[in-house]
Amino acid sequence: MRQPAVLGGPPAFPDGLPFARPFTPPLAAVTGRLGPSYDRGILTNGPLVRELEERTTERLGVAHVVAVASCTSGLMLVLRHLVASGGSVALPSFTFSASAHAPAWCGLLPSFVECQADTFQVDVSDLEARLDGTDAIIATHVFGAPAPVEQLEKLAESAGIPLVFDAAHALGSRRQGRPVGASGHAEVFSLSPTKLVVGGEGGLVATNRDDVAEAVVLGRDYGNPGDYDCRFPGVNARMSELHAATALESLSMLDDHLVRRHALADRYRAGLESVDGIAVQVVDDGDSSTYKDFTIRVDDDFGISRDVLATALAAEGIDTRRYFFPPVHAQQAYAHLAPAKLPVTDDVAGRVLSLPMFGRLGLDAVDAVVEALTAVHHYADQVGARVPPA
Ligand SMILES: Cc1ncc(COP(=O)(O)O)c(C=O)c1O
Repeated sequence: MRQPAVLGGPPAFPDGLPFARPFTPPLAAVTGRLGPSYDRGILTNGPLVRELEERTTERLGVAHVVAVASCTSGLMLVLRHLVASGGSVALPSFTFSASAHAPAWCGLLPSFVECQADTFQVDVSDLEARLDGTDAIIATHVFGAPAPVEQLEKLAESAGIPLVFDAAHALGSRRQGRPVGASGHAEVFSLSPTKLVVGGEGGLVATNRDDVAEAVVLGRDYGNPGDYDCRFPGVNARMSELHAATALESLSMLDDHLVRRHALADRYRAGLESVDGIAVQVVDDGDSSTYKDFTIRVDDDFGISRDVLATALAAEGIDTRRYFFPPVHAQQAYAHLAPAKLPVTDDVAGRVLSLPMFGRLGLDAVDAVVEALTAVHHYADQVGARVPPA
């Protein structure tokens, strides 16, 4: 067994292995696509944005897709339309901060609920138990694996409140064979650089509801329908033609990108299967993840903590992320709220580690990450004695 770098062995990646890299389309294809809009002086919210909306509407099998400047602004515009200011929104704490910031910007009170220890998705029973008095639900498709969509829809329907999905990670995911994107009152995707389809920045609001689509179309343009008599205080959340050109070219690569990520995830799974104390995120049977992130949980049997493992992998040149740590309810931004008791979330957030995952990652690099991680486990006692706990 090779010596881990943290104990003096040679690092697995002397030049470093990045955590993520955008799967960018060729620059010439982007500029070629942008050219006609650019030459006509149409720099924002033009024909390329329309084309992106049409293509994603078709791909997702949904009535409307409205392109916006980011997933965060899309969530804000949807929530502003669906929930009266001053209301409260139930959402998992095990998610990216923007899932909570969006309602907070709408004057809504986030109310945090637990996640499942194996899928990392929102815990529907805990959500149900805490739902009294809340005015809406937000659920995230965590790391691209679909959330329990049908259970959430049933719960929201019986409570008579809107359900919005933070689908930032999920453009390309499938729930029981169907593309993620057509559930709840709206699903909102991100096109930022760590996602599979990249626009540079950008978001897509997918919805079957005409009223939601209309509110986002108006809201992304200050609330101005064109007569400068704004119907409500909107924002500038328009998408530029350059972002749409990049996203359209990137979208053409999505199916190839998904094949690559699935092969990488399968390789990680096969390699990590026999390592004690490592659990890989569980994806429901019949579902397909984008693997926006490939995330493991480091249990006690591994012999060292998640943070010590991250330090040991960094010594190998392997970049990782502690997604999502700290969980949102424990972040300073929400310290003014009544403290939420979320023991499962606290435990999961203290154990998760996302490993390098990107479209141009090689299978040989995955093998080398697995080998490095296995070596760290083999020498866990010595590594634990060498690396101070965080
Ligand atoms: C779960 C989740 N929601 C929302 C966002 C915010 O997306 P954007 O940067 O497009 O606003 C992110 C960003 O990575 C995310 O991971």
